[in-house]
Order: sequence, then C-alpha cells, then structure tokens
Amino acid sequence: MGASLPERRLTNKDLEKMVDTTDEWIVQRTGIRERYIAGPGETTSVLATRAAQKALERAGRTAADIDLIVLATSTPDFTFPSTATQVQAALGVTRGAAFDVQAVCSGFVYAVTIADKFLTSGSHECALVIGAETFSRILDWEDRTTCVLFGDGAGAMVLARHEGTGEGRDRGIMTTHLRSDGRHREKLYVDGGPSTTGTVGKLRMSGKEVFRHAVGMVTDVMTDAFKATGTTAKDLDWFVPHQANERIIDASADKLGIAREKIVKTVHLHGNTSAASIPLALATACEDGRIKTHDLVMLEAMGGGFTWGSVMLRW
Ligand code: UT7
Repeated sequence: MGASLPERRLTNKDLEKMVDTTDEWIVQRTGIRERYIAGPGETTSVLATRAAQKALERAGRTAADIDLIVLATSTPDFTFPSTATQVQAALGVTRGAAFDVQAVCSGFVYAVTIADKFLTSGSHECALVIGAETFSRILDWEDRTTCVLFGDGAGAMVLARHEGTGEGRDRGIMTTHLRSDGRHREKLYVDGGPSTTGTVGKLRMSGKEVFRHAVGMVTDVMTDAFKATGTTAKDLDWFVPHQANERIIDASADKLGIAREKIVKTVHLHGNTSAASIPLALATACEDGRIKTHDLVMLEAMGGGFTWGSVMLRW
C-alpha cells in the first residue's frame, strides 16, 4: 500500500472562517476534524503517482512489473485521456493496460474487483489499483452542507497473481460483491458534465437521504461476503470501511456485530476522500502495523449512483 496527501491541511476551525459552521457540529455529525486540500499543481494524477510509487517501493516491485493499472476517480485531470494513462506514463510503465473506473465513493471496491478478475483470469500478472481524488475542485465552497465533508488524497495497492494452495489461509481477494441502482441519482450527483452543460459542475447531495440508505446497503453486501466465504463477523481481523461519516461506520459495524476495536477509522484525519478513502485507511493501518500478513480484512463502500460493494481479502 502507498498513500499521498496534499500539502495543505484544512481544519474545522479553518472552515468556521469560510462558512456558517462549527467544529462541534462537524465532529458530532461526521467525526471529521481535518482534511487535506490539493494545491494547483497537486492534480489527481500527481497524487495518484506519488501513492503508486510508495506502494511499488513497499511491495518490492518496479514499474517494469506492472501490466495493469485500474484507477478509481470521479475527479480526473481531464475528460480524456484517462488519469490512469497519465499515471502509467509518469511511472514509466510501458506495457499492459491502464484505465479509469467511475463509481464515485465505491470506486476502490469496484477497481479491486476488476483487477481481481483480470488477475485470476490469467490475462495479467501484476496490477496497481489506485483510488485518487481532488473533490475540493468540485465542491461548492458556499454550501456548508457539503463543503465541510470532503477532502483530497490518493491511495494505491499492488496486487499480484499467485497460485494458492486451496487451503483456508491463502492470501488475496476471497470474494467481491458489487451493486448499483441508478434510480438514486438525484440524491448525490454533480450538476455538470461534458455532454450536458459542457462544464465540470459542482457536487450536490441530500445528505439525510444518502444516510438513510447507506447502512442497509453496505451491510447487505457484507452479509453476502460472509455467506460466500462461510465466515462471520467474529472471524474478521479488520473492518476498513469507506470513510464518509463515523456514525454510518459505527452503525454498520454494530448491525453486523463487528467489534468497534476492529474498525480502521481515518475519517477524522482525511474527511471523505471518495474513491481514495479505503486505500488511504489501508495504507495507514499497514504503516502503523495494525494490519498484518494473513489478517482477514473486510472493505465496503457506498456512494453516488448509488453504487455499493464489499471486498473480503486475506492480507
Ligand atoms: O460518500 C458517500 C456518500 N456520502 C455520505 O455518506 C454522507 C451521508 N450523510 C451524512 O453523512 C449526513 O447526512 C450529513 C453529515 C451530511 C448531515 O448530517 P445530518 O445529521 O443528516 O444533518 P441534517 O442534514 O439533517 O442537518 C441538520 C441541521 C440542519 O439545520 P436545521 O434544518 O435542523 O435547522 C442543517 O441546515 O444542520 C444544519 N447544517 C449545518 N450546521 C452547521 C447542515 N450543514 C451544517 C454545517 N454546519 N456544515
């Protein structure tokens, strides 16, 4: 795993000077205390490349090993080419395929799922799976109901193909479950795009409506993962959810009987970084030694679309 955050940190106290809000409201309703905001040179591809370089270094791999880059983002550098191909060039990767995945906050679980299919089919050997965002660029900085919630950053994972033994302790992706339901579009969307307004647009969200659906949706796909693998919440070593709101995270864990001490939380440090939130949390928990080889880890996310999904893996 590797992570990258912009230089500029923005605290709740800083936000009090920008919109009609308070540190107390933000902490109580979301758990967020600070987030990072990208400067002009810190584009999504720049943050993604830095995270990928760290991930490669930690995995003991080089650019020459990579034949697949799957990059999840809703804030690409350009409408095209994909941010993934820009990262490919910046890293010096010259073979294989690179493409973006658009599933908003569920982007990383979608990207891991896609990479897993490529690797297990035998068509590719070693993938970089990246979640990278600069949501600050699509926020309405006068809308206190959304601008206090999001932040920027990137996280990257190296996934390589190995033959397993077929025994229970094999490392890697165990099961993945993706869902979407386009009828929920108006609850979380961006009000612009190339083929509609010809502009980038700004994020719009009915937070309460999203909240109302979130816990049920993510616990459904986690239940699917437990069923598919014959495991239970007690078997999990770590629960690494999408970091949108501490109340959603805690309610989801409680509903499935996942002990609170098994939750990896970074929402207080990063805010909601959309597709980057899970890999940022994973990188944090690997770096500080919490997640260890052979640990059973559950990832889940839910976001715009709606899209949602879970990934269970043996680290
Ligand atoms: O990443 C994927 C998707 N996103 C999410 O998962 C987000 C899901 N939703 C949420 O996390 C929560 O709904 C929010 C954190 C966005 C809002 O929390 P809430 O408890 O649902 O609050 P609310 O929207 O019902 O607002 C309560 C009050 C309102 O005032 P009134 O109408 O009660 O007078 C808002 O105007 O809080 C007010 N409010 C604020 N006050 C201070 C809204 N934003 C702010 C703010 N500072 N920043």
